[in-house]
Amino acid sequence: MAKQNIRHFIDLCDFSGEELRHILNVAVAIKAKRKRGIPADIRPLAGQTLAMIFDKPSTRTRISFDLGMRELGGETLMLTGAEMQLGRGESTYDTAQVMSRFVDAIMIRTLDHQMVTEMAEFADVPVINALTKLSHPCQIMADIMTYEEHRGPITGKKIAWVGDASNVLTSLIHAAARFKFSIAIATPPTFAPRAEIMEWAKAEGADVTWSTDASAAVSGAHAVFTDCWVSMGDEEETYRRQRLLQPYQVNNALMAKADPKAVFLHCLPAHRGEEVTDEVMDGPQSVVFDEAENRLHAQKGILAWCLHVDTAWK
Ligand code: CP
Ligand code: NVA
Repeated sequence: MAKQNIRHFIDLCDFSGEELRHILNVAVAIKAKRKRGIPADIRPLAGQTLAMIFDKPSTRTRISFDLGMRELGGETLMLTGAEMQLGRGESTYDTAQVMSRFVDAIMIRTLDHQMVTEMAEFADVPVINALTKLSHPCQIMADIMTYEEHRGPITGKKIAWVGDASNVLTSLIHAAARFKFSIAIATPPTFAPRAEIMEWAKAEGADVTWSTDASAAVSGAHAVFTDCWVSMGDEEETYRRQRLLQPYQVNNALMAKADPKAVFLHCLPAHRGEEVTDEVMDGPQSVVFDEAENRLHAQKGILAWCLHVDTAWK
């Protein structure tokens, strides 16, 4: 049983829309302060440590959590699963119990989603999902922040997802139910969204549809999202994925079918020339680098919430 009053951040479906909006509001407030220079008196996480476990590579998540924690006054500890006894078979329970004696929060990136949920179940400190094979909730918090900075409230908008039905899409579907926007997904049949996620969306009353038609999905969309075709853990399928996903490349011809004011988002890293062309990545509709920057700000909101200092910016 998960312990009471510990604020884990595992999946967006675990939250109400109001809770997610509150975390985003905190992130926006912290970002606004940072843009004016970080005030020395707002370092609410002084004396606290975030342990970061990376079982898989990372550029954005690693830098943004490290800096985010430091900017809030805290410390970070960088770990990899392979270097820990976890990599030699120490149980998740024992690891969670030991780490809870040392640190104030744990962030994990690993393909094994169950390992993250078990860590949350067994830890006495907050656990944050920094990407699993199933989901990437921190990314989508930054993405919603980015969309809204550029185009205003996302509620009621049509979002298109084109390409592989990746972990990022799972979190986007969770967000659609909570923030009340629609998603039109286009993937090849082989790489369609997981049935259980689509069933969850339906049960939640979310407007999430799937087809194999990229043009139809993008038609009139207010934002176009994609992700790499070969996610971490899919490397053995590289050739098949590159072949089957080719018709789902986001290029100028596809973007032209979206709303003229549509923005293009990508969690990055991008594989230019595969899922997206240079002309879109570097074009006027692309907000991908603002999106990357917002990982820092969104995660500061998440850290503040997890560690109960989310009222410090009121
Ligand atoms: N988008 C994202 O999570 O990037 P990294 O893999 O570089 O952390
Ligand atoms: N879907 C990608 C996201 C990388 C941030 C992966 O899992 O590799």
